[in-house]
Amino acid sequence: MDNRPIGVFDSGVGGLTVVKELLQHGPNEQIIYFGDTARVPYGSKSKETVTKYAKQIIRFLLTKDVKGLIVACNTISSNSLGELQHTFNIPIMGVVEPGAFMAADATHNQRVGVIGTEATIASQAYQKLIQKQNHQVEIFGQACPLFVPLVEEGWLTDSVTYQIVQKYLASLQEAKIDTLVLGCTHYPLLASVIQEIMGDQVTLINPALETVERFLRELQKIKGLRENKTPPKHEFYVSDNPRKFCEIGTRILSYPMNSVTQVNIETY
Ligand code: DGL
Repeated sequence: MDNRPIGVFDSGVGGLTVVKELLQHGPNEQIIYFGDTARVPYGSKSKETVTKYAKQIIRFLLTKDVKGLIVACNTISSNSLGELQHTFNIPIMGVVEPGAFMAADATHNQRVGVIGTEATIASQAYQKLIQKQNHQVEIFGQACPLFVPLVEEGWLTDSVTYQIVQKYLASLQEAKIDTLVLGCTHYPLLASVIQEIMGDQVTLINPALETVERFLRELQKIKGLRENKTPPKHEFYVSDNPRKFCEIGTRILSYPMNSVTQVNIETY
């Protein structure tokens, strides 16, 4: 057994969609979350910058004695995961491979859409991993850079959100996909609008559950699950003013986020 916490991180509130699954499927695990709210969005930044930011966050989380990490961010997972796994001697799980696996498994007509940040789509990480599972699948990638600010603002079902979603997804509607990967951890928060616009015949893939299940299985294999019977006390950290994070986070997790601590991440 290993009673130490699990580190989970993202550029902002998006990674909380992964935390939500972890709370449900690994309820005995303690979570230390970091949201880089001072430097969000990552999706428009270069691979070098994203990798540098991710390393700073990991160095911070290691000061909390985490036993493993979930990179709850597609932008980091698709651009920097290999380098992070090479640099840090600790189990690190990304969200892209689990999402690609789910998508390859779900499609019937072999036409899969992937939406994500500019950096995720440009990396072609989903495209490569989905085709590795099934080379017959045709992939249609679409960057949706305005989705992250909409979510960080908490505009999850506003009329402007419908308009923007409609505009970004028009080409995917025409492509007749039957499966759509929500390739950014912020996007599950827009799932109801996305589903309404794409129609019920399109299966939405949220990589979070598969990621969490794989990570917990990996911990179990190395006898790394928490066995302490006292309820875990989760901790949340951000790099900018916690107020908005608390507000949106409480909505996402239905978990009272009264203590969120601000950290100067540049010093790590
Ligand atoms: N939530 C992140 C992702 O999954 C990053 C979004 C951003 O900061 O641009 O890609």
